Amino acid sequence: MVRFIPVISTFCLLYLVACQPASESANSYTTSQNDAKIDALLASMTVAEKVGQTCQITLDGISAKDANNQTIEPIKIDSNKLKEALEEYKVGSILNVGAHTFSLQDWEVVIDAVYSPYVNGKTKVPIIYGIDAIHGVTYTAASTLFPQEIGLAATWNPDLAYQFGRVTAYETRASGLHWNFSPVLDLGRSPLWSRHFETLGEDPYLVSTMGSAISRGYQGDSIGSYGVAACLKHFVGYSAPLSGRDRTPAWIPQKYMSELYLPPFKKAVEQGALTLMINSGVLNGIPGHINKDLLTHTLKEDWGFRGFTVSDWEDFIMLHTVHCVAENIYDAVVQGFNAGVDMSMVPYSPQYKEYCSIMIKAVENGDISMERLNDAVRRILWVKSELGLFETDRNQAADYPDFGGQKHRAIAYNSAVESITLLENKDNCLPLNPSQKVLIAGPTADNLIFVNGAWTHTWQGADTAYNNKNGKTIRAAFESKLGPDRCTFAQGAALYLEDQFERTKLVEKQDFLRKAAQSDVIVLCLGEYPSTEKPGDIRSLNLEPEQLELAEMAYASNKKVVLVLVEGRPRIIRSIVDQADAIVQAYLPGDYGAEALVDLLYGDQNFSGKLPYTYPRYDGVIEFYDHPRSVARAKNNSFESYNPQWNFGHGLSYSSIEYKKLEISDTIVGSEDTIQISVSVANLSNRACKEVVQIYVSDHFASFIPAGKRLKGFEKIDIAANSVSTFRFKLSVADLKFANAEGDWLLEKGLFSIHIADLTQTFELE
Ligand code: BGC
Repeated sequence: MVRFIPVISTFCLLYLVACQPASESANSYTTSQNDAKIDALLASMTVAEKVGQTCQITLDGISAKDANNQTIEPIKIDSNKLKEALEEYKVGSILNVGAHTFSLQDWEVVIDAVYSPYVNGKTKVPIIYGIDAIHGVTYTAASTLFPQEIGLAATWNPDLAYQFGRVTAYETRASGLHWNFSPVLDLGRSPLWSRHFETLGEDPYLVSTMGSAISRGYQGDSIGSYGVAACLKHFVGYSAPLSGRDRTPAWIPQKYMSELYLPPFKKAVEQGALTLMINSGVLNGIPGHINKDLLTHTLKEDWGFRGFTVSDWEDFIMLHTVHCVAENIYDAVVQGFNAGVDMSMVPYSPQYKEYCSIMIKAVENGDISMERLNDAVRRILWVKSELGLFETDRNQAADYPDFGGQKHRAIAYNSAVESITLLENKDNCLPLNPSQKVLIAGPTADNLIFVNGAWTHTWQGADTAYNNKNGKTIRAAFESKLGPDRCTFAQGAALYLEDQFERTKLVEKQDFLRKAAQSDVIVLCLGEYPSTEKPGDIRSLNLEPEQLELAEMAYASNKKVVLVLVEGRPRIIRSIVDQADAIVQAYLPGDYGAEALVDLLYGDQNFSGKLPYTYPRYDGVIEFYDHPRSVARAKNNSFESYNPQWNFGHGLSYSSIEYKKLEISDTIVGSEDTIQISVSVANLSNRACKEVVQIYVSDHFASFIPAGKRLKGFEKIDIAANSVSTFRFKLSVADLKFANAEGDWLLEKGLFSIHIADLTQTFELE
């Protein structure tokens, strides 16, 4: 630990009693013990100092550049720019890296520089530095990279989600950072949207459970030396753009806001999440950044959120230039700030100077009240104090010996093992036999960028130059398992970008055909080119035709074919499903995902992942498991139209599972009651397994169309070989409520059914 000689600043005088060495128990983010100190500090601040606290700039604004205005490598901070931003404009927050990932040493240079004005007494308040560490510390070289959130969701294991949060927080702190722009709690109901892979899937209960576990993992029981502030994003409705394109309007009726989109945020806020990022798109005609009803009334007043909200990238500017709700930037700043945006990700220079000047002027003009400014700054100071940022002792990378180490990798590997989902396994094609000769092929088989996806070392994650040395590609994982003699590689097709859109082309066709003919089994790795946000907009969910053609070529060889889908969202593969011997959904499993995949394919691990979304069969028909009955109505008036490729919650294993004896404690219940549910789950195989018991409830009739069924509980249980486990669950009748058109909750009497696997029990609410 490096100790700075603290120059006593105003806050330090006030704060001295509370200054403790950074340790696991130094802070509890639910406390308000520092309120009086924060109030005193706030009272001592000028308007300019307060405004600076609400301003966030990107590192690019203070990094040193060469004569061509290119960032100097390795990174250096330009002391004049730093002085101007932090001392003159009193900027309170910084985010991101430059173009690519940093080493721990680079981070030390940056962090030492950006904290120095506070440490040296030039500013009263330290900065807070935010980063997108969304599947591990994605912007620190050699960090532990986990499956992306969509894969983590497929584990259906909140304990793993929590451990992921802990590891990521630890490695974020090793990088000198205290604030993570994660988790994404947007519901994954629009697979066309480029950020589907960043979500935890389509169901509000699954997203709430897994998302709040990640958030708790980031923050720990107390921040101490190993926790970071979570940032719930993107509040709210961002993930459901009607056009499928990033940052475009969503229309979500109040009923579905209450039932689907708001609950994950509410739960994580109730559990103490410290910050929240705002939806950069538009909900029901109102850009997220001026939605006072949501930002102020719902979040801060109704839910009692104590932390601060941060805008997304350039969103004040976009209110004027893109969403056209403000005639000029002044108006945009005023509207957003008054709606409840506390901190603005401006983020460039000279725009941040304009932002600060506008804010000061708006306060002078009375367009922004001092009360509102104080409220925002108090929230920011409170989070900074909860994070221990006012302490001048800072840990260094050397204080984090587990960074990128075996202990963390094992958790990332286990997360991948529990996420990868077996969709089809005809005639027990899997597990593979190690004596079989394997051809590993396909566009996603031989580069780490495909198993990691976007937000990996670079924003779009497509630059291969920064790949971690420890990670293995799918090809490399096979080669190290089997040795070079029993497997060969032929790419067959390559993914690339053309005119900013993903494309595939067949490559070295003859090589592929020859090697296919010489092998017993072909493991064909298909999927997507890494991308996110605007650059990730696509026009169709159909898998690129050349990838389907490659699969047809594999089938024509009459060898066993295992399709491995390396994709962040479900791409339509209907035409190649029936001929495949096995199909595995790998999602974007991270640096240790390929080893997990190969261990699963050879049966050294058992599959236990379950789909966190409904896998569509047709490009134009996006269905959800909880569809109301009308969605399933066919042309012949039967109710058989609901026909996805695979269902939400689907996932096979090497064990054969049988559910029996679903019992409920009461068949007639009152509104205050709790129903006891039990079911026996038998593992009829010789292999131990993990099974996700999923409890769904359907409401037979209601005054607003009822969901077909909704997930109300789940648990991932271990079942030994050839044994039976009895699973018990308590369902509160209050959980049977649904929302009306205004979004208010109702409980109506009548018949309800509980469904577990293919078993059903019905009861009546009186
Ligand atoms: C994204 C956010 C991200 C932020 C900072 C934005 O463009 O929408 O999810 O946290 O950039 O990198």
